[in-house]
Amino acid sequence: MKILVTGGLGFIGSHTVVELQNEGFDVVVVDNLSNSSINVLDGIEAITKKRPFFEEFDLREKPKVEAFFRKHQDIAGVIHFAASKAVGESVEAPLLYYENNLGVLVYILQELKKKGSSNFIFSSSCTVYGQADKMPITESAPIKPAESPYGNTKQVGEEIIRDTCRVNQGIHAIALRYFNPIGAHPSGKIGELPMGVPQNLVPFITQTGIGLREQLSVFGDDYPTEDGTCIRDYIHVVDLAKAHVRALQRLLEGKNESNYEVFNLGTGKGSSVLEVIQSFERVSGKKLNYKIVDRRPGDVVQAYADTTKANKVLGWKAKSTLDDAMRSAWEWEKIIRKS
Ligand code: NAD
Ligand code: WQD
Repeated sequence: MKILVTGGLGFIGSHTVVELQNEGFDVVVVDNLSNSSINVLDGIEAITKKRPFFEEFDLREKPKVEAFFRKHQDIAGVIHFAASKAVGESVEAPLLYYENNLGVLVYILQELKKKGSSNFIFSSSCTVYGQADKMPITESAPIKPAESPYGNTKQVGEEIIRDTCRVNQGIHAIALRYFNPIGAHPSGKIGELPMGVPQNLVPFITQTGIGLREQLSVFGDDYPTEDGTCIRDYIHVVDLAKAHVRALQRLLEGKNESNYEVFNLGTGKGSSVLEVIQSFERVSGKKLNYKIVDRRPGDVVQAYADTTKANKVLGWKAKSTLDDAMRSAWEWEKIIRKS
């Protein structure tokens, strides 16, 4: 079965392509390499012994999206990762985010609408919950006003899919709300490749550990949590990738209960920034140079998932611990700095 993976050379996409190929799917990747490298194809091939079919183009070019779907009429499912994801950049360049994250989504749904029946998986985010009132966060927690244009694209993206599914019963969609994906493939062949200064905690930690950055700034230690630092749910990217295969299989087997469903993907466990640093120190055997600085505007105090729905309905559960994920992130950092 042929599956289109948009953004399939990116961080989460590449790990998902590996899991899809491991399960016997034929994968077609579309990526414009705006935030990834062509070498990722070699990494995927080295792991799975199979090179996914690859088309390099920008999905914002609607005629190319139309031509792609005309050429690949036998696509059985689409997993849509392609998007811009830097929160700070989205504040500076909102139109880039609305065009790339929402314009492209509309183009793809328009193509799916033309098909009699289609299956669609969307990369959403825990960011849609903002600061939830209750922990852990269930899928029925209210959606809070977005803190950034990026966050807004995930909220509106979900609404676009929901509204489209309501009137196009042939489109079967699942939105997956990821918590904080971290880590790399255990083979050391693919992982996260942040461009420039990393905005996310774990790549900043590993780059500091390897000496690329001098010091990690911990954004605030006066939050109402046990050690005063913020709490997040860090999920190993390989666990996350496997959940996509489960979600896709659910749609392909027609097991979905409605034609638009939403699942949280996390571990269910919250970890503070200081606990993440301790995990790094444990698995690397290195002391991390860090200092406490002011809070970062827009940060929520805590966010961790209630994963009951994904556990029960998708038959999926995250297996890796924070240390497992951190170890893989550290191994990957050492590999990319050597090459
Ligand atoms: P990534 O930047 O590593 O991957 C995205 C890929 O899409 C890149 O390879 C990029 O080159 C490609 N791309 C972007 N715009 C494109 C376009 N117009 N045409 C073709 N290709 C394009 O990001 P990621 O971390 O793998 O995230 C994947 C998805 O998951 C995104 O939708 C993101 O918003 C969402 N998400 C990510 C996180 C996270 O923390 N990483 C958390 C929640 C949700
Ligand atoms: C984690 C914790 C920081 C960097 C972001 C996006 C969100 C989602 C996931 C896509 C926080 C602290 C961080 C640093 C620090 N992405 N931190 N020093 O904020 O949970 O979410 O990525 O949908 O939309 O906003 O992840 O990795 O940036 O931060 O102290 O240099 O680490 O304050 O508590 P976050 P993060």
